Amino acid sequence: MSEIQKNIKKIFLGLCFACFVYAENAAPDFISIMLNFEKEMNLIQEAFLKNSQTLVEVRQRRLKKLSDQLKGIPTSFYLDKKTRKFQNLIDLRVMRMDEELEAMGKALKRKDMDFAFQNYLNILNECNSCHILFHR
Ligand code: HEC
Repeated sequence: MSEIQKNIKKIFLGLCFACFVYAENAAPDFISIMLNFEKEMNLIQEAFLKNSQTLVEVRQRRLKKLSDQLKGIPTSFYLDKKTRKFQNLIDLRVMRMDEELEAMGKALKRKDMDFAFQNYLNILNECNSCHILFHR
């Protein structure tokens, strides 16, 4: 094999490796966001049951970070042939959930736990509304 061929082979293998690493990292990222959402939603529910504003605030910040991560993933990454026709609805779920988390942050600043709890229920509704679109 000539020197040039060897170099082309190296570049090709390098690219394959880079693509593989990218795909491996992008895929579990989405699922780990979902698993963390579930964990944080359970914890925030506990915090509401204890009526602890401080604990609710901690969870609201974690959920907002997860929501920012979800917003950073293009929906085309998890849409397929069946779900592509719901893209607008799915985009809307991502946006609404983020808006509810912002509103919850504001409610907590003015120490309005009832309003924050309503935000929590609306967020839960967004989780379910999105999942329903994927389970047809
Ligand atoms: C924009 C759409 C969307 C939103 C919003 C959303 N999810 Fe998901 N979720 C998905 C998709 C897509 C999957 C994986 C595929 C499927 O369930 O068919 C998933 C999977 C999951 C899973 C299963 C993970 C596994 O083990 O495979 C959990 C748990 C989960 N979501 C929790 C939540 C919670 C809690 C919320 C709200 C805080 C939420 N999700 C909001 C789209 C969404």
